[in-house]
Amino acid sequence: MVTIKVRENGPYVVTGPVTITDADGALYTPPEGKPNIALCRCGGSSTKPFCDGTHNANGFLAPERASGGEAP
Ligand code: FES
Repeated sequence: MVTIKVRENGPYVVTGPVTITDADGALYTPPEGKPNIALCRCGGSSTKPFCDGTHNANGFLAPERASGGEAP
């Protein structure tokens, strides 16, 4: 099962077996030693599509919550 967690003011954290490709289908290699993959959604990462922590310094704010959803 793949889970994507939307982090408050941060990345999408993907847990589970996924393949990430660019627009041409070339594979991205996820950072080593990480059990989960964090995908940038602030646009500031220098290692896109992966989060590099820049969201902590660039003022990215996205505290939204799912409405009507259930927590697992
Ligand atoms: S969400 Fe972390 S660097 Fe963009």
